[in-house]
Amino acid sequence: MFKKLATGAAFALAMIPAASYAAGGGEQHITDYAFSFEGPFGTYDRNQLQRGLQIYTEVCAACHGLKLVPIRTLSDEGGPQMPEDQVRAYAADNFSVYDPELDEDRPAKPVDNFPENNNAGAPDLSMMAKARAGFHGPYGLGINQLFKGMGGAEYIASLLAGYTGEEKEEAGTIFYENTAFPGGWISMAPPLSDEQVEFADGHANDVDAMAQDVAAFLMWTAEPKMMARKQAGFVGVLFLTLLSVMLYLTNKRLWAPHKGKH
Ligand code: HEC
Repeated sequence: MFKKLATGAAFALAMIPAASYAAGGGEQHITDYAFSFEGPFGTYDRNQLQRGLQIYTEVCAACHGLKLVPIRTLSDEGGPQMPEDQVRAYAADNFSVYDPELDEDRPAKPVDNFPENNNAGAPDLSMMAKARAGFHGPYGLGINQLFKGMGGAEYIASLLAGYTGEEKEEAGTIFYENTAFPGGWISMAPPLSDEQVEFADGHANDVDAMAQDVAAFLMWTAEPKMMARKQAGFVGVLFLTLLSVMLYLTNKRLWAPHKGKH
C-alpha cells in the first residue's frame, strides 16, 4: 500500500558530504502513506478524522494545544462532521477554559477554541501539518513535493511510528531515537503504544494505524477547507478550459470571411 523511502536528506548526505546538509545527525525516513486526502480529488475520511480526534483528546492533549482551532468546527462539513449536540458534550466533557467574566474556569463550549497547552515544552499542533515537510529531496530542492505533496501528514505519522526504542540522557533531558525527526533524537517520549486507544467501531489500533489517524486529523486542523479549495480549483480550471474553447471558436468565426480570399 505504501512504500518506504529515505528523503533527499539522506541522498544529499551521500552525494555532497556534510556541505549542504542542515538537519544534522541521522538520516530521515519518511513513509509515503496513502492518505485519502491526497491528489486533486482527495477528500478527508470522516471516520478517520473522528478517530484522530479521539487519539488527540486521549493522548496528545495532555501536552499539546490546538489553540487556533474552534471546537465548533468539529461539526463542519468536510471535517469530522460530528452532530452539534455531540460537539457540545465533547467540549464540556474534555476541556475547561478560563472565563474572564466569571473570573474562573468553566467547561468549554463549542464557541471556544481548543485550549492552549505546552506542557513539557510541547509545541501547539494547530498548524503543525503545514509547518513541517516530509519530502525535501532530491538534493534538498524539494522537487519531490511536486509529485507527493509537502508531506506534512506523512511526516507526523512517520514521526509517531518512527521510534527505535533507544534513549539517551543529555544535560538532564532524555532523548528518544526517532527515524523521522531531523537529527534523529527527540525529547518527546513515544506517545503511542499498540491498543492504547479503543475505537467504538473496533477499528485497528496499532501504532501505525493510530499514527496515520491522528496525522490525518492534524492535516484537517491545519487545512480545514482543503476540500473546498480543491473544488474551487477544479471549477476554475473547467471554466477556463470552456472559455478557451469558446474564444477559439469565436476567433475562427470572426476571421473566416477574411481567410482564403486572394
Ligand atoms: C508527555 C508530553 C507529550 C505527549 C503526550 C505528546 N507529545 Fe508531542 N511533543 C512533546 C514535546 C516535549 C515535543 C518537543 C520535542 C522536541 O522538539 O524535541 C513534542 C513535539 C511534537 C511534534 C513536533 C515535532 C517536530 O518536528 O518539531 C509533533 C508533530 C508531536 N509532538 C505530535 C504529537 C502527537 C500527535 C501526540 C499524540 C499522539 C503527541 N505529540 C503527544 C510532548 C508530548
